[in-house]
Amino acid sequence: MYIVAPSILSANFTRLGDEIVDVLASGADWIHFDVMDNHYVPNLTIGPLVCDAIRPLTKAMIDVHLMVKPVDRMIADFAKAGANLITFHPEASEHVDRSLSLIRESGCQAGLVFNPATSLDYLDYVMDKIDMILLMSVNPGFGGQKFIPATLAKLRAARARIDAYQRESGRKIRLEVDGGVKVDNIAEIARAGADTFVAGSAVYGAAKDSDPHRYDSIIAALRAELDNA
Ligand code: DX5
Ligand code: ZN
Repeated sequence: MYIVAPSILSANFTRLGDEIVDVLASGADWIHFDVMDNHYVPNLTIGPLVCDAIRPLTKAMIDVHLMVKPVDRMIADFAKAGANLITFHPEASEHVDRSLSLIRESGCQAGLVFNPATSLDYLDYVMDKIDMILLMSVNPGFGGQKFIPATLAKLRAARARIDAYQRESGRKIRLEVDGGVKVDNIAEIARAGADTFVAGSAVYGAAKDSDPHRYDSIIAALRAELDNA
């Protein structure tokens, strides 16, 4: 039930394909794909072209986190490039309901991403169109930042909303956390209600040699913490 989704933002981009194959061979579940546009966030990363290039390497979920404004233009491109799940920040879309519908009509799962200071109220009228709620535990734009502790209370609030919604609808929504997730805090984050964990620097920063299973021990350490949560 717990999903570990390494963010390739911290991978070695000179050998991105191997970095993806290796992290999945080491036991990761999904690939988290951070898209930044130097407009919505002050950094510039990768787009649909790279998603399309890595798609043949794996059947694992590609979890596309859009930090772009406007949003809609990118949705069809990422769906075509093989994304499975597309999330975006509600502040970056003029029409949140429309963007969610576009994602689902393109055959992908859809989700909203909440910055540390963004209210969960955006969920009020769109729960039926959401498969994922992603809470940022850092301000978006960069890997390697420190986990913001107020995220724990927000996770509990999001978990309560999801559980209430599941009781009435029977439909499951996942709760993902992104930013500063490490071996020493992942259990506490799980206890606050998260079930899907993005980890960039914690995973890719753990590489030491050219062993294809070089991520075994870090993924195992994260999972061991989750088992005890
Ligand atoms: C930040 C990105 C994150 C980032 C997480 O804007 O959305 O996915 O890669 O990196 P760490 O795990 O290093 O905080
Ligand atoms: Zn992300």
